[in-house]
Amino acid sequence: MKHLLNLRETSREDILYLLDSARALKEILSRPVKKVPTLRGRAMITLFYENSTRTRSSFEMAAKIMSAEAINIAVAQSSVAKGESLKDTLLTLQSLKADCIVMRHPVSGAAEFAADKLHIPIVNAGDGRHEHPTQGLLDLFTILQYKGEIAGKTVAIVGDITHSRVARSNIWGLTKLGATVRLVAPRTLLPIDADKLPVTICDTLKEGLEGADVVNVLRLQTERQERGLLPSLREYSKLFGVTPATLKFAKPDVLVMHPGPMNRGIEISADAADGKYGIHSAIEEQVTNGVAVRMAVLYTLMGGKEGLE
Ligand code: CP
Repeated sequence: MKHLLNLRETSREDILYLLDSARALKEILSRPVKKVPTLRGRAMITLFYENSTRTRSSFEMAAKIMSAEAINIAVAQSSVAKGESLKDTLLTLQSLKADCIVMRHPVSGAAEFAADKLHIPIVNAGDGRHEHPTQGLLDLFTILQYKGEIAGKTVAIVGDITHSRVARSNIWGLTKLGATVRLVAPRTLLPIDADKLPVTICDTLKEGLEGADVVNVLRLQTERQERGLLPSLREYSKLFGVTPATLKFAKPDVLVMHPGPMNRGIEISADAADGKYGIHSAIEEQVTNGVAVRMAVLYTLMGGKEGLE
């Protein structure tokens, strides 16, 4: 692997390799001293043109645990604010001798553009509505952790599919590993190419959750909503909100996931998110797994050679 740009073009073998590596690396997170010399002397730069809590900080944690330098470019305080182009910004970071750039950008295809211009590895940390491959990998990792396997499982992805790069990475990753994927959303929040995706479309939560092993709830991306996609947040919540009551449509041991950040009380109730009433919520574990998965990605792309100690 030279880059990690999407899961659509990442082979099933590479996905399984990254998940296996993450499983081995996760053990380091429970040690009293979370530090190995694996990537000593390497430098990762994060370049985020959009806000992030989980992704950016978990990449930084992952790099530091493996002894790599982790440098964050605060885009708003950088020369981007003086009008520097994406291409020149990327070339500058490469000239600083970064060994890897982790980039989030609002434009779909920005990561492919970066990979085309640079000779160092690029990790897509989310590009527009396109993909968020490390989120897809950590979701696969979490399902494997709780369910033991992915093949044969039914995963319902609920919510704002149109604006969701997480949904696309989940769809490609899950179907490559043999899961059945259902999209549950109002028609206005489904992409126009939804019928070309390897999924079943469900118009109601009852239909979509029936017999589901996993429900992955998406954030309603209010910042990306064009006017008129929803009558009201209240109606959306009533029809598509995941709650203890609506989870009864699914299998009794259904796993509840959400990539975060959550709009509590809109797409998911606090009780469902917090695992009340015996609900199996993996939302906090997803964040921990994000560090392990990103360690595996950095280890693979930056070529750790010293072994784990
Ligand atoms: N899931 C996710 O990408 O979260 P952040 O936007 O906080 O990175």
